[in-house]
Amino acid sequence: MRLNRYIAAAGICSRRKADELIEAGNVKVNGAVCRQMGVQVDEDDRVTVNGKLIRPRTKKTYVALNKPAGYITSMEDDRDRATVAELVADIPERLFPVGRLDYNTTGLLLMTDDGDLAQRIAHPGHEVYKTYVATVSGILSDARLARLRKGVDIGGFITSPAKVRILKQNPRSTVVEIAIREGKNRQVRKMFAAVGNKVQTLERTAIGQIRLGRLKEGHYRKLTREEIEYLRKL
Ligand code: URA
Repeated sequence: MRLNRYIAAAGICSRRKADELIEAGNVKVNGAVCRQMGVQVDEDDRVTVNGKLIRPRTKKTYVALNKPAGYITSMEDDRDRATVAELVADIPERLFPVGRLDYNTTGLLLMTDDGDLAQRIAHPGHEVYKTYVATVSGILSDARLARLRKGVDIGGFITSPAKVRILKQNPRSTVVEIAIREGKNRQVRKMFAAVGNKVQTLERTAIGQIRLGRLKEGHYRKLTREEIEYLRKL
């Protein structure tokens, strides 16, 4: 397999990060620094990253986390904010998040040491629906609903059709379920802002067929075999 894939399969990092390591000269194949991305390696080759021998692992870990507000979706933070890494600290494998949730967004975040799968699912071109429940300010008129469904301008980008339905109308706010296929930065917040409603709380409830269910905030569960199979086929 390609060198970057081999590094990702060893759970070191994503393939993209592996390319950076290779380019920076941190990777050796059979004792010699290798800066070529496309090099093929197999189990007979000795691959080291920063001097440490690595081996691709076959058994991968897949976790669904219910991210609380006030955590950043990253494994480390230079500003010392709480990270999702703390919530899976008892898992020995080196997991990374699949895609991102904002600091204040709660809900379903997948985490894995399967670099290949993580990269595929998080890829912007991917067509899997991500479902959110948003509490937004005010009333969402039929005209606004129609605009959200059709696509709105969120600053130089027109969103593609979304599935939107009202779950509850309160006197001063509305609870809405919205499912989108793209994952632009702060997309759901920007979509509601574009039609004039401010997002007050935002929770991701599903990624494709993987559901948050009754998982408590700050807790995680391992994905089932069926869920892993489903993700692999995406
Ligand atoms: N859209 C947002 O605005 N924020 C998220 O965290 C996810 C989707």
